[in-house]
Amino acid sequence: MASTDNPLPSQLTWMVTGCSSGLGKLFIPAVLERGDRIIATARKIDSLREFADHRDVRLLQLDVTASEAEIRRKVTEALSFSGRIDVLVNNAGYVMSSVWEEIQMESLQHQFETNVFGPMRLTQVVLKHMRPRRSGSILFMSSIAGWLGVAGGGPYSASKFALEGAVESLHEEVKQFGIKVHLLVLGQFRTNILGDGRSKFTRPADSLADYDTVVETLRTRQQQTNGKQPGCPKRAVELARDVVRQEGSVLGKTELPLRIFMGSDAIATVRTKCRSTLAILEKYEAIATATDIPGADPVQQYS
Ligand SMILES: NC(=O)c1ccc[n+]([C@@H]2O[C@H](COP(=O)([O-])OP(=O)(O)OC[C@H]3O[C@@H](n4cnc5c(N)ncnc54)[C@H](OP(=O)(O)O)[C@@H]3O)[C@@H](O)[C@H]2O)c1
Repeated sequence: MASTDNPLPSQLTWMVTGCSSGLGKLFIPAVLERGDRIIATARKIDSLREFADHRDVRLLQLDVTASEAEIRRKVTEALSFSGRIDVLVNNAGYVMSSVWEEIQMESLQHQFETNVFGPMRLTQVVLKHMRPRRSGSILFMSSIAGWLGVAGGGPYSASKFALEGAVESLHEEVKQFGIKVHLLVLGQFRTNILGDGRSKFTRPADSLADYDTVVETLRTRQQQTNGKQPGCPKRAVELARDVVRQEGSVLGKTELPLRIFMGSDAIATVRTKCRSTLAILEKYEAIATATDIPGADPVQQYS
């Protein structure tokens, strides 16, 4: 079916998850600044009391790990505010760190429920509303952790790599309907994401001494980075808003890519990864292509 590319209304309605702090909370003033409306969702909406009486803000309690039935109820409630959701921002997430041998599967499942399955479930439900309208924008919070795995960072990286792949497919599926999908690939931004009680570095009671150095190296690094991250969260959120509204620094750039990189550290990390991957392809091409079945007919390539 061909894209109808329905123009968005001048006043957009945003639905953002994980608004109790950090980037999520900053979306509220950024969105209101442009005269848009926002359904700000959080596990604890008490943290958003300051916005409770704003006529363009609807606060909605939402834990993104909720069941599909509960998510459907919440989206119906959200739609009662303005009758439409033009922009969905899957922002809620947290960092779980652990070395492989010590990963507790229950904790890993919770990491995926929050960072991957929750956003996928919510997006499925919201798409039921966006697709028939042939318009909408959906943003997902990715990370340099979705491009690079570091020792001890497996759980969080796994969740963001998974999100990257799933969202790349979604982008291909819904562009025909005029629905825009973006992965915001953030470097390190100065929120409280690495703060005590937020970032979860799990070790079992019978932790393995062999991994003490790896764990301590990452833990120390996270502690030293906390509060000193180079990225400005307000600027990140404003860029995300401008990407959706095609304003500000992206004004006139109509064909924005799936991935919107944010932060010089994101650019550096991804560039290094791409260059090293290209170098490996060059070096090992002969070995790799030797696994082809001789004389096999060419099939359509994935690209
Ligand atoms: N800051 C960075 O450097 C950075 C870099 C790359 C990607 N990101 C991504 O950006 C997003 C926002 O992070 P942030 O930096 O703003 O960190 P943050 O200040 O810790 O905010 C995370 C938000 O997610 C919420 N949340 C966690 N689990 C939830 C759940 N089950 N249901 C609903 N909300 C939940 C938290 O709510 P509670 O208060 O209820 O816990 C909080 O509001 C995350 O997806 C993160 O992975 C951040």
